[in-house]
Amino acid sequence: MRVSEIAAFIHDDRDATMKYESITEESVGAFVEFFYAKIRRDTALAPIFNEALSGRWDHHIATMRDFWCSALRVKRGYHGDMLAAHRKVRRLDRSLFPRWLALFQETATEYFASEPARILCDRALRIARNLETALFEPLPSSDRGHLRANATGPARAQSGC
Ligand code: HEM
Repeated sequence: MRVSEIAAFIHDDRDATMKYESITEESVGAFVEFFYAKIRRDTALAPIFNEALSGRWDHHIATMRDFWCSALRVKRGYHGDMLAAHRKVRRLDRSLFPRWLALFQETATEYFASEPARILCDRALRIARNLETALFEPLPSSDRGHLRANATGPARAQSGC
């Protein structure tokens, strides 16, 4: 069984009071594993991911570790095109974004102390809103700069973390 498959099935026996206090390569890596373990158990999101990623889950988890390390400025490493990747995802519906964000927020607040959790959620919210707009309300002249993992941009709303 591969690492990401184990993460999807094992019970997390970490002491619930022990939360990561800082955003590091290690804590972000663990967070990504936990978040996608939740995604894989989610009845709305799991089928979308499973269809797109059949046999490629471990590669996806590694890409997402790079992505979040870049997005949170822990370490550069993500050089993909997330907009193009999502355009290829079948049945990716706008209505799934609140569920994705809710799971992200739930995981962030479970595993990080309040300040790092807030930073993660703010970042996710900004990127999710930009991605949602680019996918469902495309601008006439495409400007993808805001979808790079390390791009900055104005937050349009505060996260609930
Ligand atoms: C309903 C919401 C979402 C769904 C269902 C979804 C689904 C997926 C799927 C299936 C892939 C794999 C595509 C492939 O490799 O063939 C993917 C890739 C990815 N997703 Fe999402 N996604 C969602 C939202 C988000 C959000 C909000 C973010 C960031 C904040 C994000 C970041 C990424 C990144 C960085 C990749 C990797 C792109 C690459 O391969 O370079 N996704 N997503």
